[in-house]
Amino acid sequence: MQLGVCYYPEQWPRAMWADDAKRMAELGITHVRIAEFAWSRMEPRAGEFAWQWLDEAVETLAAAGLKLVLGTPSASPPKWLIDAHPDVLPVRADGTRWNFGSRRHYDISSETYRRECVRIVAAMAQRYGRHPAIVAWQTDNELGCHETVPSYSAAALARFHAWLRQRYETIGSLNERWGNVFWSMEYPSFEAIGLPNLTPTDANPIHLLDFRRFMSDEVASFHREQIDVLREHAPAADLLHNFMGFFTTFDHYRFAKDNALDVAAWDSYPIARTESIALPEEQKARYARTAHPDVSAFDHDRYRAIGAGRFWVMEQQAGPVNWAPWNPVPARGMVRLWAYEAFAHGAELVSYFRWRQCPYAQEQMHSGLNLPNNELSPGGLEVQQAAREIANCAALSKLGKPARAATAVVFDYETQWMFEIQRHGKTFDYQTLVFDYYEALRELGLDVDIVSSRADLSAYRLVVVPSLAVIDDAFVDQIERSSAQWVFGPRSGSKTDAFAIPGNLPPGALQRVLPMQVLEVETLRPTLTPALSIDGTEGTALHWREHVRANRETRVVAQFDDAWPAVVALGTVRYVAGWLSHALHRTVLQQAASDAGIETQLLPDGLRVRRRDGLSFAFNFGAQPVHAPAPANATFVLGQARLNSGDVCAWQDA
Ligand code: GAL
Repeated sequence: MQLGVCYYPEQWPRAMWADDAKRMAELGITHVRIAEFAWSRMEPRAGEFAWQWLDEAVETLAAAGLKLVLGTPSASPPKWLIDAHPDVLPVRADGTRWNFGSRRHYDISSETYRRECVRIVAAMAQRYGRHPAIVAWQTDNELGCHETVPSYSAAALARFHAWLRQRYETIGSLNERWGNVFWSMEYPSFEAIGLPNLTPTDANPIHLLDFRRFMSDEVASFHREQIDVLREHAPAADLLHNFMGFFTTFDHYRFAKDNALDVAAWDSYPIARTESIALPEEQKARYARTAHPDVSAFDHDRYRAIGAGRFWVMEQQAGPVNWAPWNPVPARGMVRLWAYEAFAHGAELVSYFRWRQCPYAQEQMHSGLNLPNNELSPGGLEVQQAAREIANCAALSKLGKPARAATAVVFDYETQWMFEIQRHGKTFDYQTLVFDYYEALRELGLDVDIVSSRADLSAYRLVVVPSLAVIDDAFVDQIERSSAQWVFGPRSGSKTDAFAIPGNLPPGALQRVLPMQVLEVETLRPTLTPALSIDGTEGTALHWREHVRANRETRVVAQFDDAWPAVVALGTVRYVAGWLSHALHRTVLQQAASDAGIETQLLPDGLRVRRRDGLSFAFNFGAQPVHAPAPANATFVLGQARLNSGDVCAWQDA
């Protein structure tokens, strides 16, 4: 369990650096990330490098015993670069360009910009790549943030043509696969294809999907160019990127694999995230100061898989932020709790954003571990407490890797893209559906791995697939070989790879193990509420419902009040034919867990648990004191069973 901080020496007088470094070390911080936005100071004019300040900053921090994470500055190209190459600015869907004057103002497909990035990264890496204090490099910053991907530029179009040519080989095959006979959309050549923006009504969904697939590959290949340079000059360092929470613009599994990342890092702003995602208003209100109990855990569990077991929190909320619709001060204890929560889910490092609140420019309303006058902030005091607790407890400071959970939730980026392109009803959102299932599993006290549909699923006892748009034979092979319980949600197997309805109707290839067919689907305005009850739990379908025909051997486990099947099952496979109200999802999962021999326990409101390396952690996100589900004779290494709001405890497993 190590603590870090994000620091911007270029924003403060040099006279402060040594004292900052000393105070960081005294606080218990081991890692400091620097430089990811400092291009204009590293290279004030084209080709003219000014390393002296950065040398001094690196040496000052290293002299205090701190380990460094050095950021490449490609998220903030300086003005001279934009003036020399204005076509580096990205193009929005409406055809206009973003301006200079903030950050992320670059087109990921611009060959000029790609060259410029390789140049600055090579210059940095040659200078600092073998510095013993620099243990890791962060590439760029939050790829895709601020909606700068996709870019609808001429550069993107040219590269899209090449991408399509490689995928389809002939224009005839593209026309066929895309179904371009519809509305006379047939193209005479690859060059004749445009980008899927500015069409009077919907563009062809497969055109939109292929553009998203292409853009996802663009992000990975843009990034790969930096990785190749860093591998050469910084062979011993960990290479990572700081991803975002709830962010699906590119396929993170493929990105991490294509880039051979050592660690998946992500930026965790739980309160701001709770405010900005599609949660019921009642939950946003309830968790306004603690954040929703699953909102960080969801991404901890996702990035653990993306990093093949190794993940860091590169930026952790340290107090109120500046960018959500509302930005409250966190409840007392949360800044400390979020660190333990990340560790319990397997994080190696939790690094707070930022060392000191900056009194000027865009983020002056964003807190840090210090107030602008250099006093420790309330969040800084909580980090001090956590650092002391960890230092004084051997069981906490040396945690081993988290074990594989018994339960997996499959999350799939392409499914997100397909159902965004074709929501069919305005309230259908795939990631929100996945989150609903995940939340239910966590309310039942379970540890969860979030994994790709291409992962090896053979060791899990319960596999939950809230939906998976394309189900191929390889996936069904996994089901046939496994002894797990499988739960599928609506829209599973509803599309082919070419964004069409499978010839044998949904759920496509899943019919091999679950003979049933989806005849019609409907989205539900809030006044349409097909009701049902499962095992005494009452509820309705929301957002989405299917009319399913179950074949003779398939069991109808539950049905709606209008007699359409709601849950059908055969052997170890269940299919849920709608988006059900939350308590019903939980009931279905509880039954499946019980069939899988996994013990569940419904936790009190706001309480969550997580196990790692012989320790069980419990966290209270609720407003009321609760008791952690520890055995009566448990040995606590942190806190005690009674948890006030915002408190955490940990005990040794028997
Ligand atoms: C992140 C970003 C940081 C900072 C922070 C503020 O998205 O990486 O540079 O802007 O948000 O919360």
